[in-house]
Amino acid sequence: MSAVLKDAPQLAVMRDADLTEVLAIESAIYSHPWTRGNFADSLRAGYLCRTWRSGAELLGYFVLLVAAGEGHLLNLSVAAARQRQGHGSSLLGEVIRLARGRDARQLFLEVRPTNAGAKALYGRFGFSQVAVRPGYYPVHGGREDALVLTRTL
Ligand SMILES: CC(C)(COP(=O)(O)OP(=O)(O)OC[C@H]1O[C@@H](n2cnc3c(N)ncnc32)[C@H](O)[C@@H]1OP(=O)(O)O)[C@@H](O)C(=O)NCCC(=O)NCCS
Repeated sequence: MSAVLKDAPQLAVMRDADLTEVLAIESAIYSHPWTRGNFADSLRAGYLCRTWRSGAELLGYFVLLVAAGEGHLLNLSVAAARQRQGHGSSLLGEVIRLARGRDARQLFLEVRPTNAGAKALYGRFGFSQVAVRPGYYPVHGGREDALVLTRTL
């Protein structure tokens, strides 16, 4: 029983000391990962940056901005070896809880049209497409559009 409790994933405030592990996941799962500077700026700016750990193991993390009654999910990531185990769903549930707690009434995010896994996850959570940002993302040799998804909270 105590081993189960000890290993149950926990949400925690992300700190500078987490960034080496965060960047290891980030660079393994994205073709164009955020840099250490992107995360450090988010921490300094007071964005809601959280880690998701089982014991010492970093499973995932997110970066959320809440302002003027709107949440913007800027980063949601699960370690490659830990995907398809429900952690992305748990983290997205935490994002929604946190955004609601800060009085956000709407949650927005961007996703690549080619990111079938993320699109499936967001669809399950009731997100729908409201816009396309042309050429928003870098891809090797060019740019890719972003789909803007939203749901009410
Ligand atoms: C997208 C991401 C956060 C999902 O995290 P996860 O822990 O794998 O998600 P879950 O295990 O909670 O999956 C929930 C559901 O989402 C859908 N899903 C998730 N990944 C999928 C994939 N690769 N292909 C198809 N469906 C997928 C499925 O419906 C899944 O349910 P199921 O496993 O019962 O079929 C994770 O794959 C990730 O970090 N990807 C790389 C970074 C990224 O793309 N982030 C989002 C940027 S917008």
